[in-house]
Amino acid sequence: MKESEMSNQPPAYDAQGLNVLDHHDRRGVKSKYITLLQEMAIKRYLPEPVNNRYALDVGCGYGRLTATLAAKGWNPIGIDPAYLLLSYARRHNPTILFCQAQLPDLPVKPVGMILLQNVLRVLLLNNALSALTGIERHLSPSGKLVVVENIRNHPNYFQVNSLVTLLENRGFQLQQTLPIRFGRWWMLYLIRYGLIPEKWLPRIAEYELSRAKRWRGYLPPWQYLNVLSIFSPNRN
Ligand SMILES: C[S@@+](CC[C@H](N)C(=O)[O-])C[C@H]1O[C@@H](n2cnc3c(N)ncnc32)[C@H](O)[C@@H]1O
Repeated sequence: MKESEMSNQPPAYDAQGLNVLDHHDRRGVKSKYITLLQEMAIKRYLPEPVNNRYALDVGCGYGRLTATLAAKGWNPIGIDPAYLLLSYARRHNPTILFCQAQLPDLPVKPVGMILLQNVLRVLLLNNALSALTGIERHLSPSGKLVVVENIRNHPNYFQVNSLVTLLENRGFQLQQTLPIRFGRWWMLYLIRYGLIPEKWLPRIAEYELSRAKRWRGYLPPWQYLNVLSIFSPNRN
């Protein structure tokens, strides 16, 4: 095994060389806070399994959130094209199945839920949104597609409307959109520089989730919003 595969730090880049980690977050506390908040959002907002308990975390990266799906009763499988990210995910989650594959070719039977967490923007930046074609084939009839994405009024990002239109054009119907956190907030800088005791992070995340939920549709150009959206395949 190579030294890079043995490291206790997740790899910093995916197979295309895009950042997986925030280089400004030297202490790793900001990532820890964001992961904690997203875990809370998943536990709160994700649908529970109906018939088919299998869930795919597509573009799972180093498996940051794959195990959290089990907290909602799902049997998660992580999928990613990046071998180094997957080997880290496997070492840190030995009971979970991780598979090296990528959209549009997923080597599994239809599942009850697919999670795309911070993957659509990567496809957008790689000019690879066509990889979404046929994704509904991998969902069972009552299955759900859950998308967690940063939206912003900027050409390199999705906006709420463009994200919904993208998936409606691929045969999905929006069920719910739930804002979970603002990307730029002074508190995040204090967290990043280690000025906030880590034991306060769960309460700050709780506050942030309720603050984001009250968002009413205006985003200044410098701000972005992390949004969890739930879609159903349109079977008509
Ligand atoms: C920003 S990372 C997000 C990782 C993880 N979901 C998370 O939130 O920590 C985007 C991931 O998408 C993966 N990816 C890129 N192209 C993909 C494709 N066509 N199908 C599936 N995953 C892809 C990358 O390897 C990378 O791990």
